Amino acid sequence: MSRPDKSIHGQWSSRWAFILAATGSAVGLGNIWKFPYITGENGGGAFVLVYLLCIVCIGIPVMMAEIMIGRRGRQNPVNSLKSIAKEEGAGQFWRYLGWSGVAAGFIILSYYSVIAGQAIAYIFRTISGTFDGVTADGAANIYKSLTSDPERLLAWHTVFIVLTMVVVARGVRGGLEKLVRFIMPALFAILILLVGFAANTGEHFTHAIDFLFKADFSKLTGDAVLTAMGHAFFTLSLGMGAIMVYGSYLPKNTSIMKVTFAIAAADTAIALLAGLAIFPLVFANDLSIGSGPGLIFETLPIAFGHMAGGALFGSLFFLLLVFAAWSSAISLIEPAVAWLVENKNVSRRRACVYTGFAAWSLGLLTVISFNIGQHWLLFGKTMFELLDYLTANLMLPLGGLLIAIFAGWVMPRSSSQQEFAIKKPIFYYIWLILIRFITPAAVIIVFLNALGLFN
Ligand code: TRP
Repeated sequence: MSRPDKSIHGQWSSRWAFILAATGSAVGLGNIWKFPYITGENGGGAFVLVYLLCIVCIGIPVMMAEIMIGRRGRQNPVNSLKSIAKEEGAGQFWRYLGWSGVAAGFIILSYYSVIAGQAIAYIFRTISGTFDGVTADGAANIYKSLTSDPERLLAWHTVFIVLTMVVVARGVRGGLEKLVRFIMPALFAILILLVGFAANTGEHFTHAIDFLFKADFSKLTGDAVLTAMGHAFFTLSLGMGAIMVYGSYLPKNTSIMKVTFAIAAADTAIALLAGLAIFPLVFANDLSIGSGPGLIFETLPIAFGHMAGGALFGSLFFLLLVFAAWSSAISLIEPAVAWLVENKNVSRRRACVYTGFAAWSLGLLTVISFNIGQHWLLFGKTMFELLDYLTANLMLPLGGLLIAIFAGWVMPRSSSQQEFAIKKPIFYYIWLILIRFITPAAVIIVFLNALGLFN
């Protein structure tokens, strides 16, 4: 199989279009829903520090590697890896890396959609004034009444999958650019507003800052470190080929390094702002910090219920969150769809029906793990927790490790250097050292540490 010069799905119209789409992929539920609740569950400061370290030492180099491989291969991740491996005389094994990425994308989309569905439900609850003057207990009960009803979760999950597949069917470039150009700044603005509201809680705001940024390593378990690393992959959409497939639509002369820094900075800023908006409310209302996936749904409504214009801002917030989740979900399924279109000669539309149906079906496991199946545990985890752990903590880091090895060792320097095409070779060498040694070593150490090998 040879490498085409251009993707058959077309190219981004400009560097900005790519930055927007990739930021749209990165910024999503991971930043606003997941980051705060796992930070709460894992004790704060030290966890945040490890997460930030992982972004810098693992996330950023791997993102550059994914974009570079995608742009060189110009096809879906399975084919790109396969054709580059062939060209460089490496084995057939590498296409399985593409495959495991496709599988991870499916599994993540299946539960991602259920949570995004909950956010859709909250648009309507906020605008109808359900939260006016709500107490902490009241907000928790309202969340419980949603999640305990499998039919409602299923309905919103269905709506979200259909929305996602409609955009993917039209090709990811068309609508996505416009959507993201509008929602990212708006989301930023409303988060700032929420942080402003939270700052009014005085000492609780200071407490939240301490909680987020004062590292107490005695609380940090091996599993927490693994979760922090897994989240670095999850939040930047790495380890499964999403950014790789977007890279395959990237025009030739774009600076891979610049775009990567822009995306990683925006993503990290949004996550930290979400933390600053949520934790003061947790402390001010004596809520449990480890309350899990319901955290944003149980805390932010308290803010909306007590601020002027809260119903409006609240519904706008959840609307923007749904948009952000939407632009992320699209990238989760794009590798699978691109593969079907390129290899199986099916139309984009048909590919969307198949893949959408598969992800929807798998999502039923998550729907019931909030209610009927909440006591069905395996390894002490619900099905939703299990799917999340399997993908975010295992599949993505493992995928990232192999991507690093592929970019650093399988591809010769002449190929990667040509693809980066940077004027200052020093940056290329820094990347090369990171991707060859630091990134793989870090991932392996975190895995071994989680297995308890260093205790
Ligand atoms: N990064 C997104 C978020 O933070 C989720 C996401 C989109 C993702 N595409 C991905 C995660 C690919 C892992 C891999 O919400």
